[in-house]
Amino acid sequence: MRNILVTGGAGFIGSNLVRELQVRHPEARIVVVDDFRSGDFRNLRGFRGDFVTADVSRLDWNAQFRDEIFDAIFHEASITDTTVHDPYLQAHDNIEGFRRLLRFAEPHQTPVVYASSAATYGICSGVQEESQPAAPANIYAFSKVQLDNLARDHARRFPAWRIVGLRYFNVYGPAESHKKAAASMIYQLYLQMKAGRRPRVFRAGEHCRDFVYVKDVVAMTLQALNAPRSDIFNCGSGQAVSFNEVIAILNRHLGTRLEPEYIDNPYAFYQPHTQADMSRARAELGFTPRFTPATGIPDYLGSLSPS
Ligand SMILES: NC(=O)c1ccc[n+]([C@@H]2O[C@H](COP(=O)([O-])OP(=O)(O)OC[C@H]3O[C@@H](n4cnc5c(N)ncnc54)[C@H](O)[C@@H]3O)[C@@H](O)[C@H]2O)c1
Repeated sequence: MRNILVTGGAGFIGSNLVRELQVRHPEARIVVVDDFRSGDFRNLRGFRGDFVTADVSRLDWNAQFRDEIFDAIFHEASITDTTVHDPYLQAHDNIEGFRRLLRFAEPHQTPVVYASSAATYGICSGVQEESQPAAPANIYAFSKVQLDNLARDHARRFPAWRIVGLRYFNVYGPAESHKKAAASMIYQLYLQMKAGRRPRVFRAGEHCRDFVYVKDVVAMTLQALNAPRSDIFNCGSGQAVSFNEVIAILNRHLGTRLEPEYIDNPYAFYQPHTQADMSRARAELGFTPRFTPATGIPDYLGSLSPS
């Protein structure tokens, strides 16, 4: 790959992706498009490529890039704060950004890998399979369902064009601190425990999440370019781990013995259990996650507090 476009490259996952692209394709020209609404330039320390400061949903893509042809487009840009409830903003910026990107990519059928979300499954329990019907519980999730619908529609109309969606589950890892309250629960619990405070979780800490390490997310995002056809895949660790278990792992690696402080859950609807069925990723992409929280958390802590 010689010419690569990454939207949302100043963000958590996007910057990890850019870093890995620079390692794997040292000669490639990498262009990042980001408007910094939730990203941070510090995530791009060591970035050697070009940076376009623009909102993907308002950018005139053809005027910006003229006749430039990209070998691949990775679309990570999105409003990621799920507490932004303005339906116009969430839907417009997320959906129209993707529509414009697809319009730009269509003439050359540039391969596209885009970030969907496990939020498309809504409030459910058990193992989530890609064939499950969408059930968005908020406007953020609705916008991601629309990305999947747009992708499927384009894939139907252009069978030779590869457009691959990845439904990321709960991603954690280096370069997420700028997300503050929207950063992963693993990072929030780490901050509390590092400060010597008891970690606060909803009673009684037995809600389970599929926490997926960003190194696996980046690896799968890159592998998705080799998908045999357009498709949508879960991107998780394939395992569900409770908040109590996360706290136990953190205690073990921080050398602390902090008991969880259980607080009442104010939400009427709160997912009891998320877990990605990774069999489609295994079968179609040959992808198996390398990390579980038991191995990913210590790797992450090494980058947060180098000893
Ligand atoms: N982190 C997770 O657990 C998770 C889970 C499911 C899906 N996702 C998806 O993965 C992608 C990356 O998320 P992240 O965790 O890195 O979040 P992030 O907020 O760190 O990164 C998003 C980046 O996109 C940029 N951006 C947002 N809207 C934009 C726009 N209209 N034009 C240009 N730039 C824009 C932001 O400035 C930011 O740099 C997003 O699409 C998100 O919805 C993330």
